[in-house]
Amino acid sequence: MQVWADGRLLTDPEQPVIQVSDHGFTVGDGVFEAIKVVDGRPFALTRHLRRLATSAAGLHLPKPDDSEVRAAVAAVLAAAHLPFGRLRITWTAGPAPLGSGRGAGTKPTLVVVAVPMTAYPPHASVVTVPWRRNEHGATAGLKTTSYAENVVALAYAADHGADEAIFANTAGNVCEGTGSNLFYVTDGELRTPTLASGCLAGISRELLLEWFPQAREVDEPLEVLESATEAFLVSTTRDVQPIGLINGRSLTAPGALTQHAMEVWARHESLDSDP
Ligand SMILES: Cc1ncc(COP(=O)(O)O)c(C=O)c1O
Repeated sequence: MQVWADGRLLTDPEQPVIQVSDHGFTVGDGVFEAIKVVDGRPFALTRHLRRLATSAAGLHLPKPDDSEVRAAVAAVLAAAHLPFGRLRITWTAGPAPLGSGRGAGTKPTLVVVAVPMTAYPPHASVVTVPWRRNEHGATAGLKTTSYAENVVALAYAADHGADEAIFANTAGNVCEGTGSNLFYVTDGELRTPTLASGCLAGISRELLLEWFPQAREVDEPLEVLESATEAFLVSTTRDVQPIGLINGRSLTAPGALTQHAMEVWARHESLDSDP
């Protein structure tokens, strides 16, 4: 692991660098990005930095300085020599009073970490969870460091023999996974929830919709998954991952449209260094 914090690359990555009063630590007042690294290069960095800025604006945090973040990313990657890995950029409100108020004059904290990554298994097994995403919430669609809901849902999935959990939103419509967006096939059509569902504006989702325009954005009840003929997850760490089981029901994985999406993904991804 390589760590950039407090304006420099750490010589000891285990060295503590976050103050105990950091609002990211005390109340989850922060935003982050997870970025794939291939052959030492970050994938889709520009899009991730754009989303980091959008999430920061959503939390009324100052905008992270792109050139500082890029310099930090370059420093950790130069030190890490990663053939395949993952970057994490975390931007929090910084030291603040205990409680929800930030107080005056807080200075945000920036931490960038690079770690090796192993490829995800070829198939996912998912279960729907009893909790809802709140598409009307103040942080809906933002990539905040408050991920405890996802932690609970993923543990539920693991308890039910699955490796990803699928949320509906408060309208009962399909929303997303704990760390992924969902595509599924119904009536021969590839579909994914709209951003109004409250799902994260995933970079992989965005890219796949550009590269594979046959996919349609639509909001419909979670029960549609009971008859879906194919489904797959997309995310920075999974790319396009076919789903073999939904709530214990087997699906062909990959089905024909999923296979097509995987091929489109692989072709475009290898062409563009910062799409
Ligand atoms: C809640 C959630 N939805 C969707 C995604 C997929 O987004 P991306 O493709 O940008 O990795 C993630 C990524 O971690 C996530 O945490």
